[in-house]
Amino acid sequence: MSAPLLAAQGIVKRHRCAAGPAAVGGVDLCIGRGESLGLVGESGSGKTTLARILAGLTEMDSGRLIWQGRALAELDRAARADYRRAVQYVFQNPLGALNPRHRAGLILQRTLRGLTTLDAAARAARIHTVMAQVGLERTLLQHFAHQLSGGQAQRLAIARALLGQPRLLILDEPVSALDVSLQAQILNLLHELRQAQGLAYLFISHDLAVVERLCPRIAVMRDGLILEQGRRERILSEPRHAYTRALLQAHPRYVQ
Ligand SMILES: Nc1ncnc2c1ncn2[C@@H]1O[C@H](COP(=O)(O)OP(=O)(O)OP(=O)(O)O)[C@@H](O)[C@H]1O
Ligand SMILES: [Mg+2]
Repeated sequence: MSAPLLAAQGIVKRHRCAAGPAAVGGVDLCIGRGESLGLVGESGSGKTTLARILAGLTEMDSGRLIWQGRALAELDRAARADYRRAVQYVFQNPLGALNPRHRAGLILQRTLRGLTTLDAAARAARIHTVMAQVGLERTLLQHFAHQLSGGQAQRLAIARALLGQPRLLILDEPVSALDVSLQAQILNLLHELRQAQGLAYLFISHDLAVVERLCPRIAVMRDGLILEQGRRERILSEPRHAYTRALLQAHPRYVQ
């Protein structure tokens, strides 16, 4: 069997000055190639902290990450750069994640220059490809980020994440800042992108209906720990943990 795309072992993180339990208190997690894993849990349960560690954006106190079978700490520079390119993070608030004073085109150009050594013509072609993939008109490249609607901004953030042909997108509540009608559009887009490109997702959401739709496997997090993880059907029909049952009951669709 081939190694998972990304495995996390014994991840521990305590934020500076934070009292109470560690934000992440010893987590093991595995994401297969092309797999979509859902991560659910109440506010403050540690989802973002864990996700940022997986993406290399936050340092952990202990534990290790294994990228395609090799411990990240032992990778050479080239392999580490490959991991950085291949794991991309999409934030909850797209407008906050994009520099409002930059035009969309510049935002994509900067990212692409950081990721690749493509020449100007190849960069333009790549940018046009990702714009088409996320359903944005090319003319939007001239617009400043602050002129974009919430839905356009999240599409642009997804386009930026796709530029370097990633293997794993970490989607941290990618639709919760959007109106309900836009949420469905972005979720459809994410569903189609994964089908078309064989991307893996770590999809973080409070909303079990969203996770159910996009994620065949679900992990439930509380107080820095993964309480249970398993196949979607099992988690939804036979939750093993009282907390998972409470999450299900909080959602009208799952009240029996
Ligand atoms: N930079 C930080 N400094 C100090 N404490 C932090 C920091 N970031 C998060 N925390 C704390 O760590 C815990 C986990 O926070 P985290 O943001 O990972 O949770 P979350 O599950 O993503 O929550 P939400 O659903 O609200 O996004 C919380 O108690 C939070 O207050
Ligand atoms: Mg969060």
